[in-house]
Amino acid sequence: MIKIAASILSANFSKLAEEIKKVEQAGVDLIHIDVMDGDFVPNITFGPQLINDIRKVTKLPFDVHLMIKQPLRYIEDFIKAGSDMLTLHIETTSTLDIKKQKISLAKKGIKLGVSLNPSTSLKKIEPVLNIVDFVLVMSVNPGFGGQEFIPEVVNKIKKLRSFYRGVISVDGGVNGKNASLLRKVGVDILASGSYLFKAKDIQKAIKKLKGIS
Ligand code: DX5
Ligand code: ZN
Repeated sequence: MIKIAASILSANFSKLAEEIKKVEQAGVDLIHIDVMDGDFVPNITFGPQLINDIRKVTKLPFDVHLMIKQPLRYIEDFIKAGSDMLTLHIETTSTLDIKKQKISLAKKGIKLGVSLNPSTSLKKIEPVLNIVDFVLVMSVNPGFGGQEFIPEVVNKIKKLRSFYRGVISVDGGVNGKNASLLRKVGVDILASGSYLFKAKDIQKAIKKLKGIS
């Protein structure tokens, strides 16, 4: 069964704890946390302190997506804060560093993912595919929630699925309309922000994403 990661970027930050509990009760599998530095992407969001604080609110795994220019400078802080899955972008981190991080994260029981922007070729991540635990395919240009899904990414996922047997996660513009196509091409995790948090009935929205009627 496909897993749903709720991206808290689209939550109401003035009541974040309640928002997290709301999606947990509705049945999401993971909490997706978008860390942005205003440099790698044109937006600034959260740091380790926030993750540390919301760690007390839920037992759901934290899927921490690092959209920052210098992720290795801060990775220890994100580990200590309570990340269960950490994603590094291939645009910011070398193959060698991804290999090194995999070894140290594995010792701590933390999963490592690699992400690539819509304009980045699959060729770039090929050297790390046998190292990482999952691939996070960006289906919008990273930076903001609520953007439209880029349809060309579907072919990219199909291609990736043809030679990669590991976990594929898709992030950006995922909704009740495109979810069935994403399930069909073999995606394992759907990260969804605005579709979930803006839904009148979150449980129903999750069922739509999972394809349960
Ligand atoms: C985009 C983020 C996404 C975003 C998804 O830079 O990485 O995780 O929060 O939000 P929606 O589902 O609204 O596109
Ligand atoms: Zn994300």
